[in-house]
Amino acid sequence: MMAKQCLTANLCQPGPAHDIIPLMKKTIIDVLDEMAVSSCDRSFIPGHKGRAFAGEGAGDFEKELDGIYPFDVTETDKTDNLNYPEGVFRDAEEYAASLFGVRKTLFSVNGSTAGVIASVIASVKDNGTLLLPMNSHISCYYGAMHANAKVKRLYISDHIVGVTPEEIREAVDGENDIAAAVITGPTYPGNCPDWEKIVPILHEKGITVIADESHGTHLSFSDRCPEGAVSAGADLIIHSGHKTIGGLTQTGMLHINSDSVDPDDVRFALRTVMSTSPSYILSGSLFRALKELSDLPAKLMEISEEYAETVEELSGLTRFSVLKNKRQDPMKLAVVCRCDTAAAARMLEDRYGIIPEMVWGPVIVFIFGQGTRREDLFRIRDAFRQMDGIMEYRQPKDLETIPSVSTAMSMSRAISRRVRKVPFKESSGLIAADFVGAYPPGAPVIIPGDVINRDIIEYVSSSDNVVGLWDGNANIRVVRE
Ligand SMILES: Cc1ncc(COP(=O)(O)O)c(C=O)c1O
Repeated sequence: MMAKQCLTANLCQPGPAHDIIPLMKKTIIDVLDEMAVSSCDRSFIPGHKGRAFAGEGAGDFEKELDGIYPFDVTETDKTDNLNYPEGVFRDAEEYAASLFGVRKTLFSVNGSTAGVIASVIASVKDNGTLLLPMNSHISCYYGAMHANAKVKRLYISDHIVGVTPEEIREAVDGENDIAAAVITGPTYPGNCPDWEKIVPILHEKGITVIADESHGTHLSFSDRCPEGAVSAGADLIIHSGHKTIGGLTQTGMLHINSDSVDPDDVRFALRTVMSTSPSYILSGSLFRALKELSDLPAKLMEISEEYAETVEELSGLTRFSVLKNKRQDPMKLAVVCRCDTAAAARMLEDRYGIIPEMVWGPVIVFIFGQGTRREDLFRIRDAFRQMDGIMEYRQPKDLETIPSVSTAMSMSRAISRRVRKVPFKESSGLIAADFVGAYPPGAPVIIPGDVINRDIIEYVSSSDNVVGLWDGNANIRVVRE
């Protein structure tokens, strides 16, 4: 594992690095505060000039939004440029690097999506191969398309657990062409990969490890959480700013954690997938979320206590229990239903006012975060206790296995061909020119270049979470022969 480069020696451990902030002459937040009250004429973009007035009949959203306009600025000498950071953004990214104990951090205001795409572009060169377990997010495939990389898909046996060291070893044995692998963890239901075993298997083969840890930004901040990718020595790590910590939606970070990746390559790649006008509202919110991380260890303690209590209480029920993974992230609660899962989720919302993150086969997943309060978990526990006496027993259904598909041509070739739309149910034997996903959410089961078959049509058609089909899920784009 590389030596960590920190701004000050005592900041190498993940956790409070807040003593850095006074060392910064100005933070992005100071600059935005100054800009908002400045009386300067804003004869620069954006067109609203910092002024907006909710008119007659405006609701809460429009009124609140008015307060944001003065802070929505652009690149000026004072404000720095997130794509070419030399001032407050450089300081903010160094601050983040010190908090997470990594070599370098780059901010994204285009979500973890941009972080994943940039990681792939930076680490797969010369038409190399990218290893993608089947729970990989669609952004990994977008990255492969941009990098003109070949994709080796790894069909994994358990989507709740995620990819195992054994599956990784089998996938890379005898392979000499794999440049990088994306490992996703925590999985949607909250199991963390066995990083200590997986990272060395990949490194032995000279494969760059990209950790899509977008659901696990918080992991290094408490020993109540399983080990994360940073301390296990993954080379590139993507953390979301909005999934479990307090940034606004669309914020993310890409950490460089080894010497085997050139930071300039990564910055270059990230620029190509970010707006040339990156939002100051978003980047300011990400910096604020990082400042708030000093409160995260206490929050994680509170949530993990309530999590343990919830496991205990639900274990006494007949219709519901908590899924116990080996390396379970306490920020995710996966409840197994021995009743109609969709009906239980509807009841949670309609009767108890609780909206879960996901319903998947027999499992309902709840995701917690820095804004979660103890009462939120009490409410979930209460609801399940009551529903236990209401819901009719039903044998839990197993998660369906994702059928495999064969490949006729590369993704890049398929998307550069002319396409046509055909009814999905009649597309067996045709070559896909699109991504289609069902479960796990965001992970495609069909990619451009795949030969569509009956089994995958059936799998997708029986899912109620389909993305990528057209015209009311009736049609698919295929390569025109
Ligand atoms: C595993 C995983 N990776 C990446 C992403 C992309 O994150 P973002 O929405 O921040 O772009 C998601 C989104 O849900 C995800 O679940």
